[in-house]
Amino acid sequence: VPTQVAIVGAGPAGLVLSHLLAESGIDSIIIDQRSRDEIENTIRAGILEQGTVDLLARLPGSRAHTVGMRHDGIELRFDEAGHRIDFPGLTGRSVWLYPQHEALKDLIAARLEAGQDLRFGVTAMAVEDGGTTRPRVVAEHSGGTTLEIEADFVVGADGSHSVVRREISGSHDGLFREYPFAWFGILCEAAPSAPELIYSNSPHGFALISQRSPDVQRMYFQCDPETDPTAMTEDQIWDILQQRVPGVTLVEGPIFQRDVLRFRSFVARELRHGRLTIVGDAAHTVPPTGAKGMNLAVADVILLARALEALLTRSDSTLIDGWADAARDRIWKAQHFSWWMTSMLHTTPDASDFDRERQLGELRSVVESEAGRAYLAEGYTGWPLG
Ligand code: DHB
Repeated sequence: VPTQVAIVGAGPAGLVLSHLLAESGIDSIIIDQRSRDEIENTIRAGILEQGTVDLLARLPGSRAHTVGMRHDGIELRFDEAGHRIDFPGLTGRSVWLYPQHEALKDLIAARLEAGQDLRFGVTAMAVEDGGTTRPRVVAEHSGGTTLEIEADFVVGADGSHSVVRREISGSHDGLFREYPFAWFGILCEAAPSAPELIYSNSPHGFALISQRSPDVQRMYFQCDPETDPTAMTEDQIWDILQQRVPGVTLVEGPIFQRDVLRFRSFVARELRHGRLTIVGDAAHTVPPTGAKGMNLAVADVILLARALEALLTRSDSTLIDGWADAARDRIWKAQHFSWWMTSMLHTTPDASDFDRERQLGELRSVVESEAGRAYLAEGYTGWPLG
């Protein structure tokens, strides 16, 4: 089937891109190997930057401003004391707690309502003629029948195991970092323990007290990457969480989901090759601390949509030729921010007394200085897109 832009992946990047392209009168086809139900029910990110939520909120049927909750700050906790970072006071911007799967429900409904060609259960197998002006995505329905999409441009928004990345950059060719810890994440039925998120650096390791709704809370604690999430009782989990947030008593409740999240930083060496490009998790991975992943995916496609509009409606290739560098500028700011928040808040298994005292010195120098708090707030709420 012919289209203007073939989008592989119906996550935040692919869906927002199709929406922005449609606003410019550009057709696209989106395929995703998952079912609609799986996409809409997988719990992932929770925090949206001001710029991300502003974009989502103007899409038809968005519940970002009604179901989402504005958060005007976070608490950094260490040495048994909490320190608030006041986002609007420091930057004029806030963030929003709006779970990714809720945003995806809105986006999918709005695209289908607008007549978008959006196909679930279709797996991309390869990209052919990548070096030409008419690349093709070869895909397979779950039943085994083949689908070929012929396009002016192919966008891989297909996540960290991207098939499109293979054609651009090689699957593993990129800049990479691993961390010697992971997060144990839980969802529980309970009231919030605090009005805002708490990022706690404790002598026993890091914990993050986040939220999902008035009755469901999301919490994480730093753990060994090899931890088996099923091997701990609920009481053991609560003991660890309570110990990691000294000075606050967490509201406990039944735990109904648990998972272990790996920590990695990755940026693909090449983001574009001719008329193929990768965006979102296909192009980069950040560790979760600071919640940059989904926001970065949306920033990639805002820039890409402008470039594709120029290329496909005005035959102007200036923006697409500069796209990868423009995207990389923000990607590396977000890589640094995510690495910095991670390294400032977590305990490494081999940390010496020097390392521990240095880290506390760093935290005090951030929270006691308006410049320090503003630096954190700028990164957390998101840099202007330009
Ligand atoms: C969440 C995850 C994060 O990495 C973060 O920094 C804040 C919140 C969350 O899942 O709620």
